[in-house]
Formats: sequence, structure tokens, C-alpha cells
Amino acid sequence: MIEHTPKIIDNFGRPHTYLRISLTDRCNLRCFYCMPEEGIELIEKPNVMTLEEIIEMTRTFRDLGVHTVRLTGGEPLVRKNFGFLVEELAKLGVKLKLTTNGIVLDKYLDLFDKIGLRNINFSLDTLDKAKSVFITKRDFYDRIMQNLELSLSMDMNIKLNMVLIKGVNDNEINDFIALTKDKDLVVKFIEFMPFKGNKWDWNKGVGREEILQTIESKFGHIEELQNPKHSTSSNFKVKGHKGSFGIVSTITNPFCDDCNRIRLTADGKMKNCLFATSETDLLTPMRNGTQLDDLIINAIKSKKHARDGMEVKMEAEHYEQNRSMISIGG
Ligand code: 5AD
Ligand code: SF4
Repeated sequence: MIEHTPKIIDNFGRPHTYLRISLTDRCNLRCFYCMPEEGIELIEKPNVMTLEEIIEMTRTFRDLGVHTVRLTGGEPLVRKNFGFLVEELAKLGVKLKLTTNGIVLDKYLDLFDKIGLRNINFSLDTLDKAKSVFITKRDFYDRIMQNLELSLSMDMNIKLNMVLIKGVNDNEINDFIALTKDKDLVVKFIEFMPFKGNKWDWNKGVGREEILQTIESKFGHIEELQNPKHSTSSNFKVKGHKGSFGIVSTITNPFCDDCNRIRLTADGKMKNCLFATSETDLLTPMRNGTQLDDLIINAIKSKKHARDGMEVKMEAEHYEQNRSMISIGG
């Protein structure tokens, strides 16, 4: 892998080397915390980056120092010709990762094995079939669980993303921890975050301290693990368990100091932050033949230190101006 000197550096001196690309704003599930009830206005087809444009964008970012690319959605695997895309991206020499709901994952695992894509985050909020139907408004639970087992049997590095909502799945925290006893996977407990139209209310959220207490009360002493650089979660392990767990405490304890992430939406807009309300259009200039380097390098200079400026609390006037999560990509 060729190392490119990081050139996307913000005013806080943070080199941005990790790009998350949303391949589509469509999804085969309807998780209520992600997809607004009334639906979203889908990006019109001509405005969606073509596969060739995604490859070109990735090459541009790679040459500016990006070494890791996570593919997200919506659901990235519903993008037509996803297999072709991921093979081409692998040739660019970046480390590829994926966030998926797992429904059609079986179609791609052999390919992932071949090209070395091994880091797969599963969105999995419950281990209860009926509840899964309630949360996702679709009935794919059995397929998702089969594909989880299949991925584990192929030795993929699996993380389970669990968005915690009070009264919905907070009673399953320890069931997820129990999974880590014999399975070598990571459970990521994610604090419920506000996006346009998701009816966020922190009273529905479950915070880091409560999560830790719940686990400690059942499993006893928890070991704190060393957090990898740029990690967005604090990481722990129950003694003797094969797997581990992390907490993404964006609300109660944000971890922005060391952020190295940038995002690209399916319509080719660069976002400096998950909560960014302003975006930089890269697709139009690319289609006009403009070189993107300076645009990207300048765009990162407007990145705020934390949560797009919501340093202290999440403000509705701010996050309602953002996109819905489904069109940002986790
Ligand atoms: N709060 C926190 N995490 C969310 N995700 C989606 N919506 C939210 C939200 N409101 C996460 C899910 C999914 C990933 C794509 O984004 O865990 O795995
Ligand atoms: Fe789809 Fe993931 Fe959003 Fe659920 S959280 S609706 S699986 S994109």
C-alpha cells in the first residue's frame, strides 16, 4: 500500500485520513431512529454519483492522504453493481470497511474474502425477532442472523452497532454482552443521536454511565481496553469473554478531539462532520472537469472542533437543518 502524505488538515491540526462514502440513500429497512416516518425526499438519479465517479472521488481523496474508506448508505449493498465497485475500490490500495444491515451480505462474502474487506459493522439493535420487526418495520431478522453467523464463520471482524433507545432495547444490553462470551466480536452501544426528522429526545436515550452500570451489575468487573488512535468509542471487555464492547457516547461524552473523519454523501457532497449543516459540493465541479484538491483542502478548514459547533448540547435549530441519517450514512 502506498502511503500518501495527509493533505486534508483542519484548523485544529487534525489530518483527515478516513472517508465514509454513502453509496445510496435507499435502504431495505426503515429503522425509526434513522428514517423519518414520513419518508425522505430521495436523491434524484442524475444527482447520484455514478460508480465511476465514486471511484474517481476515492482516488482523489486517497492522493490527499485518505487511507481508509468505509462504505455506508442507506444500505450500501442495495446499490446496483456493488460487487464491481468494491473490487475497483480495492485496487486503489485503500483499506475498505463496510456498514450494513446484513440482509444481502451472503451474496458478497466470498468477494470480500478475496479482496480483503474484513471489517464489517452490522446494524443490529435487538436479538428478538418481534422487536426487530418493530424497529426496522420489515421482517428480515432470520436472514440477518444467518448472515451474521456466516460472516463469523468466515472470520470477518464483526462489530454490532446497537442504537440504544429506552423502553425499546435497553433491556437487552446484557444479552448483547452475553454474545461476546464465546463469539469474537465487538458490540458497539451507540447513544441515540439527533438528525432531521427522527423525533430525538434525550429522555429516550441511554447514556454511557448507565450502560456501564447495567453491565457491571450483571457481569462484575469490566476491564478498560486501550482505545486505538482516532477511535470514536471507549472500549471494554468483560473478563474471560472472547469478544469486547465499546460505547459511542456522542451525546454524553463526545470524542471529537482526535477526529479524522470526513463524509461524502451519495450526491457527492463533502461533510466535515456527522452533524455538519453545511456541505461542499464536489460532484458538480468534478463533472465540470475542475480539479478537486484545493476545494477539499479548503473545505476542511471550516470544520468545527466538535459536533459541528454544538459543543455543549444538541440544539434542535441546528440538527433539524442537517440531513436525515439515512442520507448521511453512519
Ligand atoms: N443515532 C445513533 N446511531 C444511528 N445510526 C442510525 N441512526 C442513528 C441515530 N439516530 C447508526 C446505526 C447504523 C449506522 C448506519 O448508523 O447504528 O448502524
Ligand atoms: Fe437502513 Fe441502517 Fe438506517 Fe436501518 S439504520 S434504516 S438499516 S440505513
